[in-house]
Amino acid sequence: MFETLSKAPGDKILALMGEYAADSRPTKIDLGVGVYKDEKGVTPVMTAVRKAEEKILSNEKTKTYLGIAGNKGFGTAVLDLVLADSVDRSRVRIAQAPGGTGSLWVLMQLINRARPGARVYVSDPTWANHNPIAINSGLKVATYPYFDAATRGVKFDEMLAALDKLSAGDVVLLHGCCHNPTGANLTDSQWDQVADSLKRTGALPFVDLAYLGFGDGIEADAYGTRKILSTVPEALVAFSGSKNFGLYRERVGAAILVARNAEEAEVTNSQLLNIIRGAYSQPPDHGAEIIRTILEDASLRAEWESELAVMRNRMISLRKKLADAIRERSNSTDFDFVADHRGMFSLLGLSNDAVEHLKAGNGVYMTGDSRINVAGIPEDRVGDLADAFLGAVR
Ligand code: LMR
Repeated sequence: MFETLSKAPGDKILALMGEYAADSRPTKIDLGVGVYKDEKGVTPVMTAVRKAEEKILSNEKTKTYLGIAGNKGFGTAVLDLVLADSVDRSRVRIAQAPGGTGSLWVLMQLINRARPGARVYVSDPTWANHNPIAINSGLKVATYPYFDAATRGVKFDEMLAALDKLSAGDVVLLHGCCHNPTGANLTDSQWDQVADSLKRTGALPFVDLAYLGFGDGIEADAYGTRKILSTVPEALVAFSGSKNFGLYRERVGAAILVARNAEEAEVTNSQLLNIIRGAYSQPPDHGAEIIRTILEDASLRAEWESELAVMRNRMISLRKKLADAIRERSNSTDFDFVADHRGMFSLLGLSNDAVEHLKAGNGVYMTGDSRINVAGIPEDRVGDLADAFLGAVR
């Protein structure tokens, strides 16, 4: 049987974790995989999460099944958090799913049931896992212009012109905030124009919302998603609780669908539940119960929001420190874009050789496309990093 198989490509982001772990240099710096790190270089369990877990441990009476859509309280709390009042809830359904990836997976399967082999347009570039999920779901992938390598901002005019050419039946995958890998994001007025374009063409928006609260705040980061949902008749959203609740390994996320009316929402949801039942039956509960507990309890929620703000502000301040250090050393504004970007990542625009040189020569790890995780920048090594980056581009 297995002799028919050839080796599949490894995942470049996760492989980098192994390479970094195997490097014995004490001065190495990990700017690779997208996990938040505090000033000690640790990915902490948030205090609100710890408290919620204690509450769950003492109150949980049963571990019986919860059903295909998972934890209902979690679903309602996530809809309140993400959608607020942007769309009439009778048109909305939510299913808890294993992480942002699991949410993307079940929604891509749903698209393929509705329109077998549909084309999903992703930003150029996009998160390395988007293409595999779409292709493994039977869909086709195409790109729309996004990142401007010259300005390190968004090529918005080109993006909009490409979106304007799409048709009903096409799917547009959008990063709700904190674009991965570039760090370059749409302004509110650009979101308004994207929403209008999607309404005009009838292309289906599919928002990947993996970093809510990591950019400029929960409300600011939700603007684009809410704008789209309040404008178009149908949409999909994949929500992740991995980063903003620090629940990475618990695999908690949600697949959200918005249909034209309540009847279509019901029918579409029956297909979504059918997909989930046939894949993994029901999602794991622990992470979802943590998020439900936090969002439903005013004091835990306030604690979570303030911890999230600490993470966000730390990333913004690290961005500024790195940009300042490079400007001081080089007398040029070439890396100022790092301070303007938002979220966990910035795409530096370095060559593959430069990335390899930084890894081999300086022990600085980033993905091959020169994406850095700004949360991985050690506060006391900003100067070393600035020197290393300038050395690599010279
Ligand atoms: C990343 O982009 O580094 C994260 O989303 C982790 C992952 O699964 O790729």
